[in-house]
Amino acid sequence: MPLSRRNFLVTGSLAAGALATVKPFLAKPAPPADLRNWRVIREQFDLDPNFVHLGMFFLASHPRPVRAAIESYRKKLDANPFLTVDRGMFENPEHSIPERIAGEIAKYIGAEAQDIALTQNTTMGLSLVYHGLKLKAGDEILTTNHDHYVHHEAIRLSTERNGASWRKIPLWESWDNVTAGGIVDHIRREIRPNTRVVGVTWVHSQSGIRLPIRMIADMIADMNRNRAQRVLLVVDGVHGLGVEDPTIVNLGADAFAAGLHKWIFAPRGTGFVWAKPDVWASMRPLIPSFTSFELFDAFNSGKPPAGTPRANWFTPGGFQAFEHWWSIPAALDFHYAIGSERITQRIHALNQHMNVELRKLPNVKIVYTPIDSQLSAGMVCFDMKNFDAQKTVSKLLEKKIIASTTPYAVPFARVACGIMNTSDEVERTVAAVRSLR
Ligand SMILES: Cc1ncc(COP(=O)(O)O)c(C=O)c1O
Repeated sequence: MPLSRRNFLVTGSLAAGALATVKPFLAKPAPPADLRNWRVIREQFDLDPNFVHLGMFFLASHPRPVRAAIESYRKKLDANPFLTVDRGMFENPEHSIPERIAGEIAKYIGAEAQDIALTQNTTMGLSLVYHGLKLKAGDEILTTNHDHYVHHEAIRLSTERNGASWRKIPLWESWDNVTAGGIVDHIRREIRPNTRVVGVTWVHSQSGIRLPIRMIADMIADMNRNRAQRVLLVVDGVHGLGVEDPTIVNLGADAFAAGLHKWIFAPRGTGFVWAKPDVWASMRPLIPSFTSFELFDAFNSGKPPAGTPRANWFTPGGFQAFEHWWSIPAALDFHYAIGSERITQRIHALNQHMNVELRKLPNVKIVYTPIDSQLSAGMVCFDMKNFDAQKTVSKLLEKKIIASTTPYAVPFARVACGIMNTSDEVERTVAAVRSLR
């Protein structure tokens, strides 16, 4: 590590060699033995047993191995914040914990560590992407009517600064006619010569609908063959990650932002952005980074950085809740120990079960989430005949079932089954909905 870098971050007077013999560390407590059993998996969470928890996509409850990892880092930080952070972050690029965390995320999503920026959540990731893209007056971002508030706000705030415009489109005409081909056609029709970015959401938290991202990416790639300036595909992936096939790079997006603190059950306040290297190279960072050694070297030599922007230039710096960030690998190990395919199957099976049964109820007006497992994932959104969404959710809460309303202009009632839920809980929920008068 260049001495200059340490001096920038460390105002103390440690000699460069003083810590050289200290071994780097990255706590990875072994996951518990038998995660083949769903009951054992449920026991890893400290969830209040008095409730049926159908809102676990909202914010993670930390499973036991994640709590253990956080606790071990917390102890190190409390015992010696200076040495712990200095060794983990700044002593040596080869031993940098952020680099290793990026490597672990990259392994999970089938990417390269050098293309991962660490963030605190999806919101921060989308903001870094939309603010980072060098758009200008005349350029357009095309997005949809179905994305989350933070996605549209990230677009609005960035276009207000750079002078580009943005437009929202629907992806279907009616809830009973949602098809993969129709979704792709809606986007294709609306891409204009000045469209530079298409921003979509993998799994809509408004309706539970999962978009055919690969098909959208292929359609855009086709169009790009005849365009001077390519259209980029930006994906808010937070409700697909940890539910679907984790090989995110196969989706074909140009940039993908997600929090890790929902379906992955990584520590609260963790997330990442993956983008293709040429996309990072074309962007401008927003927040000073603490994870790029070359940026510090440039600072110390009094010159702007000479190289091309890369992902770690975009990881927001400043001191953080490091015990949370550093415990991300424990959550990924927990996920591996259960098995990605098993997780996908389990979540789909439970939500399909819920979807099918809710559709049979005479007091349910409409289930918005398609039955087709290609167009759905881990949540089911519906409306009742006699109650609005808020009333439905309140009445379920009286029965100790935690559902949620979707935070959109027209809210729906939403139930989401994750790896901690059971078929019995699905049946209990369906019976509770049936009984609502
Ligand atoms: C589709 C979607 N995107 C983004 C977010 C915000 O996620 P984060 O808390 O990771 O910023 C949410 C919130 O749940 C969401 O539903």
